[in-house]
Amino acid sequence: MEFNYLGRSGLKISEVGLGAMTFGRESDEELSHRMLDAFVDKGGNFIDTADVYGPGTSEEVLGRWLSGRDREDLVVATKVRFPTGEGPNDVGLSRKHIIASVEGSLRRLGTDYVDLLQIHCWDRGTPIEETLSTLSRLVADGKVRYLGSSNLRGWQLQKYLDTARAIGVEGFVSHQPQYNLLARPTEWEVLAVCQAEGVGVVPWAPLRGGWLSGRYSRNMGGAPDGSRIKTAEDEGWSETWARYDTDHTWAIVDELRAVATELDAHPAQIAIRWVMQRPGVTAPILGASKMEQLEINLGAVDIEVGQDHMDRLTAASELDVPYPYDDFIESAQHGR
Ligand SMILES: NC(=O)c1ccc[n+]([C@@H]2O[C@H](COP(=O)([O-])OP(=O)(O)OC[C@H]3O[C@@H](n4cnc5c(N)ncnc54)[C@H](OP(=O)(O)O)[C@@H]3O)[C@@H](O)[C@H]2O)c1
Repeated sequence: MEFNYLGRSGLKISEVGLGAMTFGRESDEELSHRMLDAFVDKGGNFIDTADVYGPGTSEEVLGRWLSGRDREDLVVATKVRFPTGEGPNDVGLSRKHIIASVEGSLRRLGTDYVDLLQIHCWDRGTPIEETLSTLSRLVADGKVRYLGSSNLRGWQLQKYLDTARAIGVEGFVSHQPQYNLLARPTEWEVLAVCQAEGVGVVPWAPLRGGWLSGRYSRNMGGAPDGSRIKTAEDEGWSETWARYDTDHTWAIVDELRAVATELDAHPAQIAIRWVMQRPGVTAPILGASKMEQLEINLGAVDIEVGQDHMDRLTAASELDVPYPYDDFIESAQHGR
């Protein structure tokens, strides 16, 4: 396992992270703890959860595992923004909710600090200065070590970074976007900001909920009960069969399978590797509902995908790039 600096910070995180979203849901506590053991045995140190996973259960399950570990060996990331209750102040990025959420996370995790606190999404109702000064205060108080963001548009991320500089408070060292072979628009603006600003990138859903694992085929007609893709319909998540059962998806899956066969690897490993090897990426966050899946996915750190194979996957997943991200603007920027 290799370690990368998280953005321009001095924090080193493993080249893949472990996502805790399934803990206490698809994977019970015993399995979740075994998955955490397998991850650290492989050399991983970066674990991602959120106040709303479970809700709360993911942090509790992780916290009970953490209590038997040397806390300093691990980089624990959590998030704040989505609703933790029914009340008007149980949501968002206000001073009141951020502090309440972090106190709750610390209690559930059984720790006195989190390494990385990420805002889960934009909050149009709260002044950026209020959010940033509160986050910065949590760092000064020793409850949080580093700050990051997730799910922002490019201009929103830039606005946070510029405002932090302007008012002299801590800015974000990392960003957590959805990024995978089926989410290339993330490159157009979000990754461009991250690269220009030296913000680390820790993508979620490297397998798009299983679509890029090689387990689904054109003729299946739908995903089996209990799978993430099936559950997505009931939960209102976006990785549904209806959305991704397209020629574009199947062309990517075909190429993943072909590259996997040529490299004697699993398609899931190739999909994860593609994310790991893309410019600016620090560490994708792995998801798994079963131990076998995690073992396969962790195998991504043991392989390498050469440039020819990377190019084939990149070409298969290319989209028609709209204005103002298209060639016309790109070439104007280069004086052509
Ligand atoms: N910031 C955010 O808004 C956000 C959003 C989502 C996730 N995240 C973070 O990112 C982490 C990973 O996200 P994700 O769970 O969506 O990742 P993902 O890797 O795209 O999807 C994981 C799911 O794919 C299936 N799968 C995984 N490995 C497989 C394999 N080898 N073979 C076949 N199927 C496989 C499993 O679903 P089945 O149940 O069908 O087996 C698994 O639960 C989360 O735990 C969380 O920490 C963040």
